[in-house]
Amino acid sequence: MTAGVDHRDCHDHHACAQQVSHDHARDHHRYSSSRSRSPVKTHLSLQYAHDEKLPAGYSNEVRSPDALVERFLVAHSEPGDRVFDPFAGFGTTLVTAERLGRVPYGLEYEPDRVAYVRERLDAAGNVRAGDALAFDSDQFPACDLCFTSPPFVTEAMSTDAFRNYAGESSYGSYLDDATRVVRGIRRVLKPGATVVLDVANLKHEGHVTTLAWDLADAVSEVLSFRGEVVVTWEGDGPPGSDGAYGYGYDHSYCLVFDVPESEADEPR
Ligand SMILES: C[S@@+](CC[C@H](N)C(=O)[O-])C[C@H]1O[C@@H](n2cnc3c(N)ncnc32)[C@H](O)[C@@H]1O
Repeated sequence: MTAGVDHRDCHDHHACAQQVSHDHARDHHRYSSSRSRSPVKTHLSLQYAHDEKLPAGYSNEVRSPDALVERFLVAHSEPGDRVFDPFAGFGTTLVTAERLGRVPYGLEYEPDRVAYVRERLDAAGNVRAGDALAFDSDQFPACDLCFTSPPFVTEAMSTDAFRNYAGESSYGSYLDDATRVVRGIRRVLKPGATVVLDVANLKHEGHVTTLAWDLADAVSEVLSFRGEVVVTWEGDGPPGSDGAYGYGYDHSYCLVFDVPESEADEPR
């Protein structure tokens, strides 16, 4: 079905079926949206703020703002649902999930961050130390929603973001690794689950890395892309940041994907 066109209410079912089939043929590319959904608001304006201060020594680290996480958790999950974040960081997704009556599960590469997040959670044991590129999906129960923000890179960087910027990598390898991570995430999620990536394009020294768009493309190999929500940020942004959000911009994106429910929904 063509993204943005909902044929459920059509009265001429024969013509509609033909139209759907035509739409389907035309849209068998990687951005095709697998399921009809009610329309969502595709832009938000939020205050760039966090309830909790970062622990000492981490003042420049980037976190997902609480209000953003809350919006998406409320929109895409129900109380009692399981919410997964494989890049748990300082725990914004997991702590917000628990506060909203969801059950948090997460993974984080840095052991000190894992310890910090565990202190913030009642379900402390649900956050595991590990590598999103190589983790055992059986250590998590099937989850309903993944809200996460991967580490960012610019095209010019040659360090490995998935090793917390240690070791060598390239932009192409980063995108390949991101696809690999999402294959792992998919194994933790129920069919039909939602995946939300909190990402941005990056403007640095006059050059734009279209990270958000490149990730949308890479991840669409594994999940069905439902669409993007543009988030414009009010306030000063992170300390020492370049722009209201940082990264030379005052806006970012939440990319929303569906885990296919059947083979017919698989991205092509
Ligand atoms: C952008 S931060 C996430 C911040 C988080 N959303 C928050 O609000 O605190 C990305 C996190 O991914 C973690 N990370 C990087 N590579 C990883 C990997 N291979 N496996 C798991 N976590 C990783 C980093 O240590 C960092 O904490």
